[in-house]
Amino acid sequence: MEIKTSPFKLHYFVCERCTYMIDDELCPKDTAMDLRKRLKDMAMEHFPKAEVRINGSGCLGQCEHGIASILYPKGEFRTGLRPGDETKLIEWLKEEFKN
Ligand code: FES
Repeated sequence: MEIKTSPFKLHYFVCERCTYMIDDELCPKDTAMDLRKRLKDMAMEHFPKAEVRINGSGCLGQCEHGIASILYPKGEFRTGLRPGDETKLIEWLKEEFKN
């Protein structure tokens, strides 16, 4: 086994397996994956690829809270994501990137 330190300043994972939004509303198929893809496309316009990554993930253990995500190295969850939250998430990531 080899140990390496992450080269990314921000590494944001969106669970692509979430199937419910908040209030137990069922997501249309691929909602979480599509949200993550749009977010990744937007992130490429705002951040250097070498420093910020947006990836899909498997279950983050937050299923009951809607579409879930987590930002590293902070280790902070954002849950209850909905299509249309992308701009708000990019603004938040910009603030995190500055810090
Ligand atoms: S399936 Fe997405 S957090 Fe569990």
